[in-house]
Amino acid sequence: MFYKPEDGHGLPHSPFNSIVTPRPIGWISTRGANGRDNLAPYSFFNAVAYVPPQVMFSSTSTKEDRGDTKDSVANIRDTGVFCVNIVEYEMRDAMNQTSGPWDRTTDEFELAALEKAECETIACSRVARAPANLECKLTQILQLPGEANFAVFGEVIGVHMRDDCLVDGMFDVLRYTPLTRLGYQDYSVIREKFSLKRPGE
Ligand SMILES: Cc1cc2nc3c(=O)[nH]c(=O)nc-3n(C[C@H](O)[C@H](O)[C@H](O)COP(=O)(O)O)c2cc1C
Repeated sequence: MFYKPEDGHGLPHSPFNSIVTPRPIGWISTRGANGRDNLAPYSFFNAVAYVPPQVMFSSTSTKEDRGDTKDSVANIRDTGVFCVNIVEYEMRDAMNQTSGPWDRTTDEFELAALEKAECETIACSRVARAPANLECKLTQILQLPGEANFAVFGEVIGVHMRDDCLVDGMFDVLRYTPLTRLGYQDYSVIREKFSLKRPGE
């Protein structure tokens, strides 16, 4: 089948985010100007550069009490910082709980009974037991075509790795079980890896 998005797909659900998979999940923590911590998952998320290390995520709709966006983007606009927490399989239910349309005064760390730790380089909480956390300074918020689409870019200025994930000097993703997002309501986990040498290496 072929379809042009502008004409519609004619299927019960859009297949788009099932095609671009698996996607990593950036579990984004921020702190509001009111001092409230916020935490929410974003799978339109990735690393985008090495030096300096940079990441991005994008927010694609609005929340009633936030006007043109959601809490994460609104908080980042106010404070200029955010933290990316990496999600493992064991944290799937907590992660899912933090994705609810909770109002701006809700602290999703408390809601999902997640232990917090204070970031080292920015005024923000992080998920204490996450396999890794990336402390980020906002570089730009890009408004994308569409109604409430914002891509948020950040430079990583602090990196936490859980001690048990460091093996022989390498961050070993198989020391935990990485959770990835598929389409619809589906997820997957990574339990195997293999290596390939690039031509010329
Ligand atoms: C696994 C997962 C991935 C998600 N990815 C995105 C995303 O990439 N962009 C987005 O706008 N919402 C995404 N959502 C929905 C947000 O998490 C949800 O709207 C949340 O309430 C936003 O919280 P906030 O207002 O505190 O930022 C995702 C939800 C889940 C469960």
